[in-house]
Amino acid sequence: MEKFIIHGGRELSGKVKISGAKNSALALMPATLLNSGINKILNTPEVNDIFTMKKLLEQLGVVSEFSNNEIVLDTSNVNNQVAPYELVKKMRASIYVLGPLLSKYGYAKVSMPGGCAWGPRPINLHIEAMKKLGAEIELEEGYIIAKSKKLTGTKIHFDVPSVGATGNTLMAASLAKGTTLITNAAIEPEITQLCEYLESMGAKIHGIGTNNLEIEGVDELNSADIVNISDRIEAGTLLCTAAITKSNIQIEYPNYDHIEAIATKLEDSGCKILNNNNIVSIFAKDVLLKSVDVTTAVYPGFPTDMQAQWIALMSLAEGTCTVTDTIYLDRFAHVPELCRLGADIELKNNSAVVRGKKFLKGAKVMSTDLRASASLVLAGLAAEGTSEVLRIYHLDRGYQKIEEKLKSLGADIERVQTDEF
Ligand code: EPU
Repeated sequence: MEKFIIHGGRELSGKVKISGAKNSALALMPATLLNSGINKILNTPEVNDIFTMKKLLEQLGVVSEFSNNEIVLDTSNVNNQVAPYELVKKMRASIYVLGPLLSKYGYAKVSMPGGCAWGPRPINLHIEAMKKLGAEIELEEGYIIAKSKKLTGTKIHFDVPSVGATGNTLMAASLAKGTTLITNAAIEPEITQLCEYLESMGAKIHGIGTNNLEIEGVDELNSADIVNISDRIEAGTLLCTAAITKSNIQIEYPNYDHIEAIATKLEDSGCKILNNNNIVSIFAKDVLLKSVDVTTAVYPGFPTDMQAQWIALMSLAEGTCTVTDTIYLDRFAHVPELCRLGADIELKNNSAVVRGKKFLKGAKVMSTDLRASASLVLAGLAAEGTSEVLRIYHLDRGYQKIEEKLKSLGADIERVQTDEF
């Protein structure tokens, strides 16, 4: 096991480059199952969730090579349609192989992902969509077994605009017979990117970037290359890191419009933000941070994946604010850990009431999930004294070499081996 030892209180400065988006690459990679050829995805982050997806695709017969943030996926010899429990349990995004396998090969057996650290995360919308497209679905011994001769286009309305269900349905519908209309589709940038990738393979999709997606099924798709977008959550996390350490830093990040909600909330809290030629600068030195309420929402709302980092930041702001998560009602495991560092946070249903403190004090804390660990690192960097963040394998699922980026900005953070669990 590894942990971080952080000596807090250092001011940061300098510039770092934001890596490719994990959640977008996790959709683009399984999309290659829809063709039989050699696909290249550039700007793919070297993080553990991507390694898990690579392993899963290899299990299906994909031949892959991954170096320098470029992944090559040869889907010419896919010979297995089973996504086993051992891999799916590591990462819910494994469910993304369901749609492509089913529509291309007429069969998929995918382990059900189960719950996660912050409660149930259902997949009913994925399953209902596949059924509406004509698949026969059985649930057997923890597996979804999906069969279909040829999927057929239909109308699908999502009660909630799920990112994963929209992605899965898009992939499945691309090779279906006839036209599929998805209403109340997710419009997250990762979905727009997936649409563009499918189009470059030959898919016909109308309404990209809107809640209504129309997919005219085609008989086959060709292989294609794509440059993945940069990670909006890593960008937001680093901007909040600058704010909590009262620093001025710059990030190389080309998609400012993807982080408008986060940047505006940072400005509301008193930070100054400039976006110029794909460089986003944040000025937080000498700023007296003000408390700012946040309610998470689907894109372009404030992302649930930034909720934990925002609570960490607000724990050092002047005043009291309420942070509400409307996407995942139980995603608050970081709160008791932040309180160990001296934060004053009270949980009320799916809201955290954060009373800003003048300072936090270093302590030993434990990561419980990816974004929770990011919030603890932020708090540790701002706290007085030494903090230890345990179970950082959660962080390694989604942030590429985060401590190296932080060190290059002047943070005092070390990754060390530990027996502690
Ligand atoms: N939902 C259902 N039924 C479904 C699917 C979703 O009720 O079949 C509900 C969920 O319970 C949730 C809401 O719909 O309340 C939104 O979930 P969504 O399906 O959009 O989430 P996801 O596709 O499973 C992706 C990201 C998450 C991110 C969410 C929300 C990937 C691989 N994961 O998950 O990222 O939190 O969208 O934006 O894209 C992370 O990176 O830390 C992370 C958890």
